[in-house]
Amino acid sequence: MIRKATVKLEPLGIELKIIPGTPLIDILHEYGVEFPCGGKGICGRCLVKVPEGNLAHTKNHRKRLTELGLSEDFHLACLSTVSGDVTLEVEQYNIFILADNTNFEFIPREGYGIAIDLGTTTIVAQLLDLSNGKIINVKTEANPQTRFGADIISRIAFALNNKGMEKLQKIVRETISCLIHSINKENDASVNKVVIVGNAVMQHLFCGIDPTPLSVYPFESVKKEFYFFSPEELDLQINASVKIVFLPSIGSFVGSDILAGIMAAKIHKSKKFLALIDLGTNGEIVVGNKDKIICASTAAGPAFEGTNISMGMRATTGAISSVWLDKDQMKFHVIGNEQPRGICGSGLIDAVTVFLKNELIDKSGKINSDKKKLEIEKPVCLSQKDIREFQLAKGAIATGMEILIRKLNISFRDIDKVFIAGAFGNYINISNTQYLGLLEFPEEKIVKLGNSALIGAKMALFLDDKCCEDILNISEHVSLETDPGFEDIFIDKMMFG
Ligand code: FES
Repeated sequence: MIRKATVKLEPLGIELKIIPGTPLIDILHEYGVEFPCGGKGICGRCLVKVPEGNLAHTKNHRKRLTELGLSEDFHLACLSTVSGDVTLEVEQYNIFILADNTNFEFIPREGYGIAIDLGTTTIVAQLLDLSNGKIINVKTEANPQTRFGADIISRIAFALNNKGMEKLQKIVRETISCLIHSINKENDASVNKVVIVGNAVMQHLFCGIDPTPLSVYPFESVKKEFYFFSPEELDLQINASVKIVFLPSIGSFVGSDILAGIMAAKIHKSKKFLALIDLGTNGEIVVGNKDKIICASTAAGPAFEGTNISMGMRATTGAISSVWLDKDQMKFHVIGNEQPRGICGSGLIDAVTVFLKNELIDKSGKINSDKKKLEIEKPVCLSQKDIREFQLAKGAIATGMEILIRKLNISFRDIDKVFIAGAFGNYINISNTQYLGLLEFPEEKIVKLGNSALIGAKMALFLDDKCCEDILNISEHVSLETDPGFEDIFIDKMMFG
């Protein structure tokens, strides 16, 4: 049996048991650490210090530190792996948000705030000192609703068919209350604001809004409304004057996580056109600038989150997260350095790319032999149906982008930057997304933004509601399916290359 190493995360005091050889990016992401350049060693934002023990590094680690002008007291987490027992001081838990170049300006405020990203599968809460932007504490928890459905569609079904609405609301509110309580217990901080963001379904289920409109055409949700709560409503024994707000959705499945993403990517402040894509859940796409923003949720479904793929799973321990060719040999990486148990979205993109390059499938996605399944590594393989599911998701995203660009009367070339949101975005191989025709932009325009929902929620702690209102006033949700060109574009975009 492999001896697991003890990894301590300071200043949070968290202790983990990890298999040596595990990349730090696989571990720290779960604990709210952001990897803005997608772990390429470019941005210098994922710094850790190692007061005890050692880390192993990629060959270019020292060179990158020098190029970034950093002393050897620092380590870039994205280029480091666990080699034995180690204590890590995670700089992002300490540094000023203003300290990085992709900063957001904030006006310091008195007191403390808690930013919460209520995701379909995980919930992250960060406590911030509003006088300087320091992250003081981070808590994560699995969304307890997952036992009633892994994805948003089954959550809606449970809420409607099983009269489960109350139950789903109760358990998620309890979990968020627990997170806030445990932050409060550990920190003597007078919190005066809590900002919660989440996708449209999470918002409905947390706020107690009937999700029926999201289950039937035209899938309209409540929109442009803030939901405020008193601590008492959430059963929180904190100062009654604390303002708790769930930020508004934009429309249909485009929720406040995307509104927060718009803030994080500063689309509403940009003269040039920018795009934001969240490949998780429903594949939301945003294109716009300071004058006009349009967004859509695609019919991508949760294929990129591993759902509907026979051996699909979330990007967690045991998931094949990348696949590549090394002298014609298929190689792969498993999150957590364990035996592969399944494949997550980033691995799926890579595996399909490798199959296409090796001509195991053709451009229409058909397996070029009488094999029923294509193996990556025992027991993980992809069936013809899995490849079709992937094509539907890829086609939906590419179609959404094409239609939004046409609606703005611009071309792909007019988009200055494309931000990839969400945890999953950190792992994807951009050149493979181009090879498959998923993202039809040159690599230098694509920026991995990390957890943009959480970044935006943190920004909202410093802002008044007007900032969100200003974004909502220039934002419009559009329905892709009603576009006259939808079907033709979709059929075309399902093909590879
Ligand atoms: S340098 Fe590590 S995420 Fe950018």
